[in-house]
Amino acid sequence: MYWEKELEILERKSLERLQLERLAKTLGQAAKSPYYGRFPEIVRFVQSGMKAIEQIRELPFTSKEDLRNNFPWGLLAADKKDVVRLHSSSGTTGNPTVVYHNRHDLDSWANLMARSMYAAGVRDTDIFQNICGYGLFTGGLGFQYGAEKLGCLSIPAGAGNSLRQIKLMRDFGTSVAHVIPSYLGRLFEVFKDEGLDPRKDTKLHTLVIGAEPHTQEHRLRIEEMFGVKAYNSFGLSEMNGPGVAFECTEQNGLHIWEDAFVVEIIDPVTLQPVADGEVGELVMTTLDRQAMPVIRFRTRDLTRFLPGACPCGRTHRRIERISGRSDDMFIMKGCNVFPMQIEGVLMKLPEVGDDYRILLDTIDEQDEMIVEVEVRQEWFKGDLAFLDRLQRHITRLVRDEVLVRPLIRLVEPGSIPKAEGKAVRVLDRRKK
Ligand code: COA
Ligand code: AMP
Ligand code: ZN
Repeated sequence: MYWEKELEILERKSLERLQLERLAKTLGQAAKSPYYGRFPEIVRFVQSGMKAIEQIRELPFTSKEDLRNNFPWGLLAADKKDVVRLHSSSGTTGNPTVVYHNRHDLDSWANLMARSMYAAGVRDTDIFQNICGYGLFTGGLGFQYGAEKLGCLSIPAGAGNSLRQIKLMRDFGTSVAHVIPSYLGRLFEVFKDEGLDPRKDTKLHTLVIGAEPHTQEHRLRIEEMFGVKAYNSFGLSEMNGPGVAFECTEQNGLHIWEDAFVVEIIDPVTLQPVADGEVGELVMTTLDRQAMPVIRFRTRDLTRFLPGACPCGRTHRRIERISGRSDDMFIMKGCNVFPMQIEGVLMKLPEVGDDYRILLDTIDEQDEMIVEVEVRQEWFKGDLAFLDRLQRHITRLVRDEVLVRPLIRLVEPGSIPKAEGKAVRVLDRRKK
């Protein structure tokens, strides 16, 4: 029933005591980093201790901006020789955000992943296929080490190449797969093109879906298409990656692992806690990380705590599926995109005019990002070969920046519709 019974069903009072103990250690560790060591509030708590977990509200928030401004080593709290891995994701513009791990951190993360997958019913008898980007994306190695710790036979398939994904599933009898939900429509189409039905022609019984927002209706459609149970997996690189919050087999919200994180939900405008059960921005503090503790990280993800106890017996609170963001980031094919990144690329080019527009659409069951770019009149009148070269050049620059290939449409100046005098930057028409 549980991966770590004593921690997963810990009575709330004991869980809070454990949080307080771990927070004291975390603050002591964080204060060793050049960045956090500068905050008198942190140093004060390191010296005099914290009496109740609510006092965390006296500590400063950390934003993606802070991580980027202190790139690359500012938040590192350990000796570089003890750090064994980093993960990095792109920021709005300029420096990426980087998270460092020592061996303890990686073990702790793998354990949270194993715990999460176990809660969703995955067992060591399962054959697990990870259809997700490896490399710097945390979903690759994060799920990989978790599945190995759990004891599954794991297939590190990576993203892309749908035909090979299906062959792997059929050759080895994959029973569980981790997949980004928006890709499952495309995968299903390829099954159909091959004359196959995943319900009959695979041994899949469980899908773990996450890394991007999706609705309950989308989940039900996925369950129907593949004949499986699909469980929501939530995480973010700054808090390791996946393994932060996960659905148990009750499918009634995501348990957020409170022995590993302090969780707050705040009003993104007033920065004060919202009333219990109200939607706000998730703020998280690591409790079991040594190389790079992060304090009160503003995730920008909007959610709320769900009331009541879960029939599974786990005492860690549940959050509702993520309902939006308090910034303008969107996720395309599992890659985070800030419109400013695209603007940054376009505005460096002398041929590009004043306006651009990002259209997100589902074409043949595959999500695509179309970027309409106004070209200055003198260039727009240029020959077709020139425009073709410009289009390919912009495609490459945007792809290098956001990691997905955009469809670039070059358009005449003034042709992008304006909303109240301003160009509408992102239009999301994706099938949800
Ligand atoms: N996951 C897995 N495969 C995907 C995918 C996704 N989210 N989105 C598209 N693909 C597949 C496509 O279907 C295509 O394979 P096929 O033609 O055999 O069906 C292949 O990847 C390339 O697709 P394309 O549309 O040309 O992609 P791109 O160049 O714009 O992007 C990806 C390349 C998909 C590899 C890149 O976006 C990626 O790595 N996405 C996954 C990110 C991820 O894992 N995020 C989780 C972080 S925790
Ligand atoms: P990254 O740091 O690149 O792993 O991206 C993390 C972000 O992906 C989160 O802050 C969320 O916005 C989004 N995300 C991850 N998992 C989910 C999920 N299950 N539902 C909705 N959004 C998610
Ligand atoms: Zn539960």
